[in-house]
Formats: sequence, structure tokens, C-alpha cells
Amino acid sequence: MARGFFITFEGGEGAGKSTQITRLAEKLRERGRSVVVTREPGGSPGAEAVRHVLLSGAAEPYGPVMEAILFAAARSDHVEQVIRPAVERGAIVLCDRFLDSSRVYQGVGSGLDASFMARLEEVAINGMMPDLTLILDIDPEEGLRRATARRGEEQVADRYEKETLEIHRRRREAYLAIARKEPDRCVVIDSGRREEEVEASIAEAVFAGLERAATRAEA
Ligand code: TYD
Repeated sequence: MARGFFITFEGGEGAGKSTQITRLAEKLRERGRSVVVTREPGGSPGAEAVRHVLLSGAAEPYGPVMEAILFAAARSDHVEQVIRPAVERGAIVLCDRFLDSSRVYQGVGSGLDASFMARLEEVAINGMMPDLTLILDIDPEEGLRRATARRGEEQVADRYEKETLEIHRRRREAYLAIARKEPDRCVVIDSGRREEEVEASIAEAVFAGLERAATRAEA
């Protein structure tokens, strides 16, 4: 069985990742591909156990090192239990957030040492670098509006949604900087457009990526 393909979806709050992942999964399945949809933090029983601790803010008082290590611990379990086995059996894995979320959310403004973060990333992914990363880019103000509308005003924002607009802007810049630095892996998708247009751009990037991988495998 040929190796599968590992796609991650990244971006700020309210960029529409989950809707787009569902649509892409349908498209790929219609073409007969085996697809695994998963998300972070979480995606495996071990990682889901850590998810609540992180998103409720329960780990926040213990500082950024604690949170960064917990995200990495969850990622390591998810990679070994779910992502690597799926890719090895030939599936296309669609993952809602992955290592770039840690680079951006734990990396920006936290004061954490860059070499510590790089080492943590290495341990967490253990070679499982995404084949393709789609960065769903949206103006943070619009993204937060959408995230609030989706959640309903009466429900409280999670640990990360509630941060200031200024922080969300810096995160957007950090994502765009990653895309500039790793153009072979990352594609920026303008997600301020209509859902159908975003969907078409994503499909284009994914089919091009799959084709490149197939050509490489034949060579
Ligand atoms: P969630 O409600 O699952 O998703 P989303 O915002 O993608 O709709 O929230 C996940 C939150 O966790 C999100 O605000 C980003 C944050 N996060 C990190 O800070 N670091 C990470 O490594 C990951 C995977 C997520």
C-alpha cells in the first residue's frame, strides 16, 4: 500500500476550518480515498484527556512552559496512536490544527526560548511533518465575530478566544511568516471570501499536492 498523505489546517479563530475539512473529506471520499479526520488538541484518547485541561484554562496559572509541554505531550500521543498509523496504511489525514498552532499560539509573545520550542516540536512530531499545510487566513476581527456567532453570545469564550485583538493580529502575522518561510509545505487560503470560493481554492491546493506526491512516488 502506498503511503498516504498528511494535511493540516491552520489559522485563527473563526476561519472556517471545520466546515472546510468536512467538505474536503466528502470530496476525497467521493473519489474513493480513505480519509481520517482528526483535530488538536486531542484526536486520540490520551490527547483528548489533556484537551480539557488546556482549553478550560486550568493549566494557564502554571505558566507557558507547562502549557507548551502539555500541547506537545498531547501531540505525541496523537501522532503515534492515530496519524502515523493512518498515513502508513495509505489514508489521507485531515488534521484541524497541528504543530504550527504551537509555534503561533505558544510561540508568540510567551517569551519561551526558541530552541526549547523547536526541540519540543521535534519530540512531539517525531518526523511526522505535514505534507501540506493550509493556512486559512482571515482578518482577526471578522474571525472573532464569526467564532462568537458560532458559539452563541451566552457561552463563554475558551482560553485562547478571549485574548485581545492585538494578540490575534500578531498570530495572523506569525502564520503568514511561517508560510513565507516554508512555501513548499504551506499554502495561504484567503478565507474572508464566500465558503464556496474558499472550498475551491482548498481543493485546488490539495489536488496539486496529491499529484506532486504521486509523481514523486513514481520517480
Ligand atoms: P478549538 O475550539 O478546538 O478550535 P478552533 O479554534 O480551531 O476552532 O480550540 C483549540 C484552541 O487551542 C485554539 O484556540 C488554539 C489552541 N491551540 C494552541 O494554543 N496550541 C496548539 O498547539 C493547538 C493545537 C491549539
